[in-house]
Parts: sequence; structure tokens; C-alpha cells
Amino acid sequence: MRKNIQTKSTNGIKVLVVDDEIGIIDSLSIFLKRSGYDFVGVTDPLEAIEKVKTEHFDLMILDFIMTPIHGDQVVSEIRKFNKELYILLLTGHKDLAPPLETIKRLDIQGYCEKSDKFDQLLLLIESGVKAINQMKTIKEINEELKDANAKLEKAYLDSIETLRYTVEAKDPYTKGHSDRVSEYSVLIGKHLGLNEEDLHTLKIGGLFHDIGKIGIPDSILLKPGKLTPEEYSEIKNHPAIGVHILSNAAIFENIIPIVKHHHERYDGLRISFKT
Ligand SMILES: [Fe+2]
Repeated sequence: MRKNIQTKSTNGIKVLVVDDEIGIIDSLSIFLKRSGYDFVGVTDPLEAIEKVKTEHFDLMILDFIMTPIHGDQVVSEIRKFNKELYILLLTGHKDLAPPLETIKRLDIQGYCEKSDKFDQLLLLIESGVKAINQMKTIKEINEELKDANAKLEKAYLDSIETLRYTVEAKDPYTKGHSDRVSEYSVLIGKHLGLNEEDLHTLKIGGLFHDIGKIGIPDSILLKPGKLTPEEYSEIKNHPAIGVHILSNAAIFENIIPIVKHHHERYDGLRISFKT
């Protein structure tokens, strides 16, 4: 008779036990409940696969020889959609255990022989819980780092945006020009079939391509008449000044070639995109 047993946890670790012998489920239920684990016991291996699809478990303990499918097949199915579940395999006798190669391939973290005492299993569970908690901590730290990084990128982007508006404020010609360059570049990029990442690079590159004008004296930038050769030579420095401003942040790495070469003819230096 198929039977499911469920208890509530006290330590936040949810364990799924899969064994077609109800006796094992009952014993482990008492044992794991006493140790403070949230326990779900399933006698049908196929149901176990469905459970892992719809519910979160931290650790799974499963029997090897079961019907209609064996433990290694259960793990093989689960690994197709869940690579993170910590899995311990129970075997009736070590001669009946799957080959070590299978255990490694399926990323089964440990196995032990069934016994009336659960000492060995308890040790495996405890080391599993330590690994699970470490992984949780690493994930949390990664999330915090990601958040902090996103905030830093946003702050840098905002400060460059301020610089862009400063250039536009002092040079009426540039006003709105960068937005149009950005917009048209993306349209051309789409026509050329560029991917989303490259289109984004084009968009940001267009917005900031003239940022180097911030380093050009007003007397030259705003001069109503014809520029002298020296003044013209100075204004030609604005792509290099722009590169210098943007090179302080790794997030602008991809747009630097656009800024650097934006006055090159199309048959001059080539701007390369990642494919
Ligand atoms: Fe320019």
C-alpha cells in the first residue's frame, strides 16, 4: 500500500524520503522528526519526481532498489530539472549499490547501507545540512553583491548622464543630438539584425558618444564663426576625451570603441561587435 507521511520542521531543512518499504519511511519519520527536520515520506518513486517538481526540498534520501523505477533513474529524472537538490542514496547491501561512476554522474552527494541504526545516515545528513546552509549563505551573499553592484552601476550611469546633460546645456547643437544618434543607431542595428546585447550597447554608445565635449573649451565649442586649424584640431580630441572619462568604469567597456571611433568613416577603423 502506498503511503505518504509529512511532519513540520523546526530547523528549516525540508527532507524528502523515498522508499517503497513503509517501515523505513516510518522509522526515518520518527528519527528525522526528533532531529527537527521537516519530513515528507513517499513510497512511490514516480510521485517523488512529481513532488520535487512542485515543492521545494533541501535534501532527498532515497532507496536504490525500488519499483517501478530504481533510485538512480529517479535521480536521473530529477537532475533534468533540478541540479541543486542534495541527494543521499540508501542501499540494501553495498554489492547492490550503483557503480561509483553513476553516483558521480548523477551528482549524488553520498550513500550508505540501510541499517537498524541510523548513525551513519545521521552523519551524512548533518554534513549535507552544513553544505546546504553554506550554499544558502553563498547565494545570499551573491544576491547582496549583485544588488550592490547594480546600485554602483546605476550611480555611475547617473553621474555620466549628468555630464551628458552638462554638455547639452552648454552646447545647443548637441542638445537632443545624442538621443537622436542613439535612436537612429538602434534602428540601423535592428535592420542589420544585431542581437539584443549589441543593440543595448549601441543605445548607450549613442547616448554617450559625445561625452568628451565636456573637455573642449567653450570658446571653441560655442564659437559662431569658422574654427582655426588649431581649434579644429582641439575639437577632434573629444572622442579620446570621452574614452578617458568612460574608461574608469568596467560597465562602459563595450561602448568605448563606439565613442573612440564615432568620427571614423565606415571604410576606416572597423567597429567590431560580439556575435
Ligand atoms: Fe562627436
